[in-house]
Amino acid sequence: MLFPPAIRAAIATVGLVGLAGLSGLLACDKKPADSAGNKPAAQTADKPAGDAKTIKIGLIGPFSGPFADIGKQIQYGVKAYLKEHGDTVAGKQIEVLVRDTTGPVPEVAKRLAQELVVRDKVDFLAGFGLTPEALAVAPVATESKTPMIIMNAATSIITTKSPYIVRFSMTLAQVASPMGDWANKNGIHKVATLVADYGPGIDAEAAFTKTFTAGGGQILESIRVPLKNPEFSSFIQRIKDAKPDAVFVFVPAGEQCIAFMKSFHERGLAEAGIKIIATGDLTDDHTLPMIGDPALGIVTTFHYSVAHDSPENKAFLKAYADANGSEGGQANFMSVAAYDGMAAIFEVERKLNGTMDVDKALEILKHFTATSPRGPIEIDPETRNVVQTVYVRRVDKVNGELRNVELSQFDHVKDPAK
Ligand code: PHB
Repeated sequence: MLFPPAIRAAIATVGLVGLAGLSGLLACDKKPADSAGNKPAAQTADKPAGDAKTIKIGLIGPFSGPFADIGKQIQYGVKAYLKEHGDTVAGKQIEVLVRDTTGPVPEVAKRLAQELVVRDKVDFLAGFGLTPEALAVAPVATESKTPMIIMNAATSIITTKSPYIVRFSMTLAQVASPMGDWANKNGIHKVATLVADYGPGIDAEAAFTKTFTAGGGQILESIRVPLKNPEFSSFIQRIKDAKPDAVFVFVPAGEQCIAFMKSFHERGLAEAGIKIIATGDLTDDHTLPMIGDPALGIVTTFHYSVAHDSPENKAFLKAYADANGSEGGQANFMSVAAYDGMAAIFEVERKLNGTMDVDKALEILKHFTATSPRGPIEIDPETRNVVQTVYVRRVDKVNGELRNVELSQFDHVKDPAK
């Protein structure tokens, strides 16, 4: 089962405890600047990181509620990095403060971020599974001058909301636009799109539609479904009635993908000859075993697959299993982005010798490059988004297990929305 109730309840309790005393903290945040013009924020340009002995990372995300898997995948990726590389850097202890938004709840994400910078004096804000929560925290990062490491939230506009934001995950525009090209060249002429009705879904719809129609493809229906508790069956009937060659899908990875696939099959769309094409959120490696064989043959474009054959991916998957055991299930793109985000934080601290000069930290983050478990990555210093390979993959069985098998690739893909 995805989210055992006992675990949900336990995490929710931790989240509530974390909220205690917030009103005092918010009052503190509103204090005017002192005579030297210093705001009562957590960070000045060159304060020592954390305290004398620690580097503190505030990890914000949904760890309970319908998107709990997103927060957990991010946390599992953080743990994998610390397992493999140790929990000290430049002589400092890494301390991760986990805060549950119960999301998507932007106001809670913002309050938790304020608490982390004002009271806990974190050196980095990190995590951010859901776009509305990342957007809500952006002003806190700006006001407190705290680097904000995005480990999932994937709407293009996010990095424009604060100069302190650096994204290690992806954007939906980045992974959806190659699918428009691929579909054109692979006998798909008429498509219905179905996306979650919020930032990443709207970006996915726009990016796919742009490349697909530029190559001669035709969009028959553009359907947007609610982010919370979508009831797919009537939307799926609309797709069936439109008789497209394929449906292009983006819904947030996790439970909704299982629900979409169930409804697609119940309404007989596969039998009607309608294909599914999607961003890899739909067939993410963590959820794929729960979708099962109905996923076979689905083609997606995405930046990470557990089937990616490289020494870096093998090392990551081993660290993930060692750190998280059976509780972690299968790693996915969110845990990889978290792992790479941690690598960037370690690089900052190594280069700054365990101190925190925010401007220098930003420069290091903006020029970060690595051979990630997903392949080569670099941060585009202009936009602070990750540049990476986008793979075309097809769900297949490998040694009896469902895998997103890489077929071809688009190299060095930037966020096309910028
Ligand atoms: C987001 O809210 O930005 C988001 C959530 C889940 C995904 C992708 C993007 O799978």
